[in-house]
Amino acid sequence: MTELENIRKIIDDYDRKLVEVFENRLKVILKVLEYKQEKGLPILQPDRELKVFEKVNSYLKHPEFSQELESLYCQILKISRRLQSNKLFPFNIVLIGFMGSGKSSVGKELSSLLEMDYLDTDQLISERTGMTINEIFEVQGEYGFRKLEAEVIKDIHQRKNIIISCGGGVVLNPSNVELLKQNGKVIWLKASCSEVYSRLSGDSSRPLLKDNMTVERISNILTERTPLYEATNDMTVDTEKKTVQEICKEIIEDLLKQPNI
Ligand code: S3P
Repeated sequence: MTELENIRKIIDDYDRKLVEVFENRLKVILKVLEYKQEKGLPILQPDRELKVFEKVNSYLKHPEFSQELESLYCQILKISRRLQSNKLFPFNIVLIGFMGSGKSSVGKELSSLLEMDYLDTDQLISERTGMTINEIFEVQGEYGFRKLEAEVIKDIHQRKNIIISCGGGVVLNPSNVELLKQNGKVIWLKASCSEVYSRLSGDSSRPLLKDNMTVERISNILTERTPLYEATNDMTVDTEKKTVQEICKEIIEDLLKQPNI
């Protein structure tokens, strides 16, 4: 055996040990999850993650590896969170609601809290067409946009364990709703007319509002859509005067009470 082969053998041995330890760590994570569920304890405990970082750093004998250890633990903790989320929420989390109700901000925050992948239907439509939503409305009209929206929903609805933030008009097409509900829990982020107006005034990225950004226009569309949001959701969260973090906390707590699909 050459010297290099000998050194590689040592690495192989360490890898075997690492895999064994990693597997055991994951099994214990699932036990912790079961325990928290049984006792009704909070599932996400960010303080605990900080403590883990501190502890593992104190175990390090060679401080020159402290950056490497930090990036390793960043990954390990993400993997643990994702494992727990997959167990807790074996379905997609689908966010619906009027323009400006906070679907994207809440979706991104949920995705980082739960380590679940995040998809935004408007973003996917823009990526596929190479056009902004405004440009699509100008060239193909609302009808063309709705067709693209329905295609995107068809393509993504079968995925599992993802967070989907939908355009405000997704509920207009019953087939979108049916597909999204097959694998997902639908959460309606509710916002009032005045709240939407104050969040969106000055924003020209919404083709349905950009030439007529008034409370009256918002109210008309909202009134038309409210029965659809009501009929579609598995859970409603009032977003009024709440921070993104507060909304996410409420969603996670409520989802834990929901039956599986
Ligand atoms: C729409 C909402 C928009 C976008 C398009 C149409 C709507 O998404 O899909 O402008 O009909 O309400 P957001 O709700 O994310 O703004």
